[in-house]
Amino acid sequence: MTKLLDNQVAIITGAGRGIGAAAAHLFAEHGAKVVVCDLDAGPAEETAAAIRSAGGEAMVVVGDVTDPAFPEEIMSKTIAAYGKLNILVNNAGYTWDGMLHKMSDRQFQAMLDVHNLAPFRLIRAAAPHMREVAKAEKAAGKTPEPRCIINISSTSGVNGNIGQANYSTAKSGIIGLTKTVAKEWGPFGIRCNAIAFGYIDTRLTRDQESGEKIVVAGEEVQLGIPGHMKGMITMLIPLGRAGTPAEAAGAILLMASPLASYITGQMLMVTGGLNT
Ligand SMILES: NC(=O)c1ccc[n+]([C@@H]2O[C@H](COP(=O)([O-])OP(=O)(O)OC[C@H]3O[C@@H](n4cnc5c(N)ncnc54)[C@H](O)[C@@H]3O)[C@@H](O)[C@H]2O)c1
Repeated sequence: MTKLLDNQVAIITGAGRGIGAAAAHLFAEHGAKVVVCDLDAGPAEETAAAIRSAGGEAMVVVGDVTDPAFPEEIMSKTIAAYGKLNILVNNAGYTWDGMLHKMSDRQFQAMLDVHNLAPFRLIRAAAPHMREVAKAEKAAGKTPEPRCIINISSTSGVNGNIGQANYSTAKSGIIGLTKTVAKEWGPFGIRCNAIAFGYIDTRLTRDQESGEKIVVAGEEVQLGIPGHMKGMITMLIPLGRAGTPAEAAGAILLMASPLASYITGQMLMVTGGLNT
C-alpha cells in the first residue's frame, strides 16, 4: 500500500489506548513519526514499543493535556526529537456522565477542560511550528508542507445525549474551534477538521458494570455505558454493530492524508450510519 504520511510528524493525544492507539499504529504504518501522548505511562509506552517493533518511529510524552504547561512541553519535545510538526490529533478525552439536574460544576468544567481548553492550548502552542513555519515557506515562494489538525468530536456533540450535558457541550464546542482554525490557518495551507464518532468499541463504551475508571487530577471517574443499553444502541446502527478502534483510526488517517487535501473546516460523522 502507498504510504500516505511519509516523512510527516504527528502528535496524537490519548494514544495509549482505544482510538488514539489505533491511530498511532496506522499513522506509523503510513510512514509518520508519531509522538504518543497519554496520561498513563504504561499504555503509552506499549503503543510506542509496538510501533517500533513493527519498524516504525515513535516517542512518548506522558502528561495530562489539561495541565497548562503540557502543550509547550509536548511541542518542544517534538521539535527537539523530530524537528517539525505536520499533524496534531486532539483525541485525548473521557466521559463523566450524569443527569443534568445532578451534575456538579466540577463535572461540567472537567469536560470543557479536556475537550475544549486543552485542544485550544495545544493548537495555540503548535502555531510557531505550523502556522509560522508555513507562513515563512509561503513567503519564500515554496509550497508549504502538508499540515493539519484533527479534533475528535462525538455524535453526542452533534445530536445531544442523555446523561452527557457536559460531554455534549464540549464535543459541540470543539466543532466551532475546528471551523475557526480552518478559517484562520487555511491561508497557510493548514487544514483543520473534526471527526464525530458514534459508538466505537473502547473502554468508554464498554459495560459500566465492568468497572473501568479513569483517574484525572486525583478524581476517579467511572467510564462505560449501562450494559442493558448496548443492544438497543446497536439495533439503531444501520451497519448493525459498533465500530472498531482500527476503523475509527482509518477515518483519522483519511482526514490527515493527501486524499483530503481540499477538505477543511468539516465535521465528518463516523457512525455506521446512525445520525440521530
Ligand atoms: N469510544 C467511542 O465510542 C467514542 C465516541 C465518540 C468520541 N470518542 C472520543 O474519542 C476519543 C478517544 O476515546 P476512546 O474511546 O479511544 O477512549 P479510551 O479511554 O480508550 O482512550 C482515551 C485515552 O485518552 C487518555 N486521556 C484521557 N484524558 C487524558 C488527559 N487529560 N491527558 C492525556 N491523556 C488523556 C486516556 O488515558 C486513554 O488512554 C475521546 O476524545 C472520546 O471522547 C469516543
